[in-house]
Amino acid sequence: MTQTTTIPGSLHPDTRLVHEGTLRSQFGETSEALFLTQGHVYATAEECASRFAGETGGFLYARFSNPTVTMFERRMAAFEGAEAARATATGMAAVTAALLGQLRAGDHVVSARALFGSCRYVVSEFLPRFGVASTMVHGPDLAAWRSAVRPNTKVFFLESPANPTLEVIDIAAVAEIAHAAGATLVVDNVFATPLWQKPFTLGADCVVYSATKHIDGQGRCLGGVILGSDAFIQAHIHTLLRQTGPALSPFNAWVLLKGLETLSLRVERQTRSAAQVADALAGHPKIARLIYPGRSDHPQADIIAKQMTGGSNLIALEIAGGKAAAFAFQNALSLIKISNNLGDAKSLITHPATTTHQRFTPAERAEMGVSDGLVRLSVGLEHPQDVIDDLTHALDRA
Ligand SMILES: Cc1ncc(COP(=O)(O)O)c(C=O)c1O
Repeated sequence: MTQTTTIPGSLHPDTRLVHEGTLRSQFGETSEALFLTQGHVYATAEECASRFAGETGGFLYARFSNPTVTMFERRMAAFEGAEAARATATGMAAVTAALLGQLRAGDHVVSARALFGSCRYVVSEFLPRFGVASTMVHGPDLAAWRSAVRPNTKVFFLESPANPTLEVIDIAAVAEIAHAAGATLVVDNVFATPLWQKPFTLGADCVVYSATKHIDGQGRCLGGVILGSDAFIQAHIHTLLRQTGPALSPFNAWVLLKGLETLSLRVERQTRSAAQVADALAGHPKIARLIYPGRSDHPQADIIAKQMTGGSNLIALEIAGGKAAAFAFQNALSLIKISNNLGDAKSLITHPATTTHQRFTPAERAEMGVSDGLVRLSVGLEHPQDVIDDLTHALDRA
């Protein structure tokens, strides 16, 4: 490497998304280079030993250090306002490592109960297998977080807005309760995106993303990222990832780096379109309930005004008539695709009760707010009027 780009912190976030963290080789390439290599060679055995001992800098082995992955980590850290970041193969690898890295048998976790299905599995089924107890609470109920604390509580975990209900939690208030209990707060910020919510400014200790969603944003590859202070990453994350190996591939890091360059353009446009779609559908007789974080009728609109600077590209729609009506509605769409992903350039629709949350019992789904009539819409980059027309046409036909 001949040149590392570090952008002054005074420059605007969009500028940093384009330039921050670029490592240029001796060829001076414009676009970030794809270092598709497993390892590196050393001039001498002494140099190799010294790098492994951490006495000299440099890359070692792609399970834990690769130049393209490092560029992605640095750019994410700069945009999020974190000291450090570590990339992972998927969003679930990021969530699992962020929790496991801090926990030991005998510890206790308090978590919001409205979560993406795999996040809920990790907290309520996987961690207990290793002697880590968990208590699930109704996220907006601050008293419930307080009373769930035990002497051995080490970590609080939440998604806000939550997948798929878009339930919003007061992050600053929950961070305060966590810290008073001597615990850390981990926030899965996928639904808010790095644009509209900055959990570190609200007191979070760790932020995780599925980069598979808006950060790629074009349906190409999986990825995840864990962000925190240098001390947090060194104490809890670095060694776990290095020794257990859920590494992001350099190719995916390169795709995600290119995704970051256009992240704000895409998410701003998708959010503007989602707001138009939500307004156009609100009050439709076939929609029993519409939840959108950019509308004043969102149940936690006051908290959204405090902690988010934009809405979301996601809308939760409760179709009147339950599962049969939700299926008929999805089947009547033509432009909008039925798919369980989100944050994509293409508008996508999902029925969580039979996909992302199908492994739970009806009672557990009810507790999370995942009813049989609920569909989750991820608004893409199409012209918003075409999306609205497809939705209203399908509602009228279903
Ligand atoms: C809120 C949330 N967290 C984590 C994940 C997991 O991400 P990945 O599919 O990249 O493992 C998802 C995926 O939908 C999600 O919606």
